[in-house]
Amino acid sequence: MSYQVKEVKTKPYDGQKPGTSGLRKRVKVFQQEHYTENFVQAIFDAVDLNGKTIVIGGDGRYFSPETVQTILKIGSANGVAKFIVGKDSILSTPAASNVIRKYKADGGILLTASHNPGGPNADFGIKYNVSNGGPAPENVTNKIFEKTKTISSYKVIELAPIDLSKKGFFTYGPSNVEIIDSVSDYVQLLESIFDFPLIKNFLQSHADSFKVLFDGMHGVTGPYGRAIFVDALGLPETSVQNAVPLPDFGGGHPDPNLTYAHELVERVERENIHFGAASDGDGDRNMIYGKGAFVTPSDSVAIIADWAAEAIPYFKKGGVKGLARSMPTSAQIDKVAKKKGLECAVVPTGWKFFGNLMDAGRLSICGEESFGTGSDHIREKDGVWAVVAWLNILAYANQQSPNELIGIKELLEKHYAVYGRSFFSRYDYEEVPSVGAQSLVDAINVHISTGSLASTSHVSKSTGQKFTVAGVTNFDYTDPIDGSISRNQGQIVTFDDGSRVVFRLSGTGSQGATVRMYVERYVPASAGPAELNKDAQEGLKGLIEVALQLSNLPEFLGREKPTVIT
Ligand code: G6P
Ligand code: ZN
Repeated sequence: MSYQVKEVKTKPYDGQKPGTSGLRKRVKVFQQEHYTENFVQAIFDAVDLNGKTIVIGGDGRYFSPETVQTILKIGSANGVAKFIVGKDSILSTPAASNVIRKYKADGGILLTASHNPGGPNADFGIKYNVSNGGPAPENVTNKIFEKTKTISSYKVIELAPIDLSKKGFFTYGPSNVEIIDSVSDYVQLLESIFDFPLIKNFLQSHADSFKVLFDGMHGVTGPYGRAIFVDALGLPETSVQNAVPLPDFGGGHPDPNLTYAHELVERVERENIHFGAASDGDGDRNMIYGKGAFVTPSDSVAIIADWAAEAIPYFKKGGVKGLARSMPTSAQIDKVAKKKGLECAVVPTGWKFFGNLMDAGRLSICGEESFGTGSDHIREKDGVWAVVAWLNILAYANQQSPNELIGIKELLEKHYAVYGRSFFSRYDYEEVPSVGAQSLVDAINVHISTGSLASTSHVSKSTGQKFTVAGVTNFDYTDPIDGSISRNQGQIVTFDDGSRVVFRLSGTGSQGATVRMYVERYVPASAGPAELNKDAQEGLKGLIEVALQLSNLPEFLGREKPTVIT
């Protein structure tokens, strides 16, 4: 096939700075002339991929097929030797991480805006992952950003588009292209980690008493869910819903939380389903929800960490090397780490911070309050992994206690009875004016520098509880492996009973600012079941009131109520 490398003149666009997880903007922004091409060329300018292999995948959202062709054109002109592409431009984020590692690719470009809505009027995103399968670290994304500021041309090879719906080997100019099945490598991976025969046996012997429902939210995980829950574990078709990936996620907001996954929550409650679970647009987030029992992500990772070495073959064999959580995540997992004598690292928000610890052999299981849970089997969080981990643990717990049926609720209660409970909730104020958000941050910074809140007491009007401020700090992090420093990763107000409130600006929004407030209060096991098993909002009522009061958040943001509570 003859081909020609063409150089196309362009001008820089402002604001092509990758955030927590790549460049995320409205589709309309990406559709501007040369906008997507500029960013893709900037990746190849920042990272030398000449003669290398890269993976292309994504959540299949609107504008993905076009962008895959753009990457092929520009990547090929920049000397990429081989592209491994998910069929129909689909590879969930965890599946892509696995493919990069398994086929020893040099990097990957993922087309996703994760849990943000999709469609012509919603969001698109481009994210670069490095050879360990994880998101590019900041020194790489900064370099990409620098390149976008001075770009004056990009290179393309103009060839007929490749048909992305056919598996197989193709050539594209000087490059090879392999289109792979999006699901099979990932299913093999999970089968090598979990005890599928044990889970299958448990589910079959409890077919009537333990019902399962997985919600793909019309994101990328539908086909993965079907392959695992229906084909491998033998559950009925009705145990997966919204399992066909759609470019606009059926008009929904594919984020598995109590607000956006309400369809799942309602069905679980109405039909007495014991085990419900959902995953987000690109398949890295998860929510576990059983009849009358919502598992906070903070509790989820603590429970997985607690049972892993006993119940899950991958950890039984390789051991649990260490645990970790992001700073805003509750300290429930710290209690597990302490009991088991394991290290528990606390890193800034963003999965990339776990990667270095994993590569250094210091971390096996970690999680974030933002519905992310995972392990060192790949370098992304993994929604379907977390769901199967829970099924594996429940199957094992039931095998150990054959005289009772242990469901999600029972497992949580048993956990609190041993470790006590860190009540946790997050309040999100989405798309508020940036000025108000900045004023809130500035006001807390004044408290930090002047110590004006220290030792002040605050009483909740509705519960009468008194909270005395122990300290206010900004969270800075020094990576123990590469020494890189990340500053201002959230403002923490701690109280003398160990409770705390964290304020943080979201790094993933595409418009305005989103403020998150995280509240946490620990109750020891000795408080007894009535106290431990309370509803989270009830357990946190007084603290939330005090947090809003002392920060003046409603005034700064002009919002009485949060957009989402999780
Ligand atoms: C993405 C990252 C997560 C991170 C989350 C934070 O999902 O992959 O690691 O926790 O963003 O989002 P936020 O909007 O709070 O910055
Ligand atoms: Zn995601």
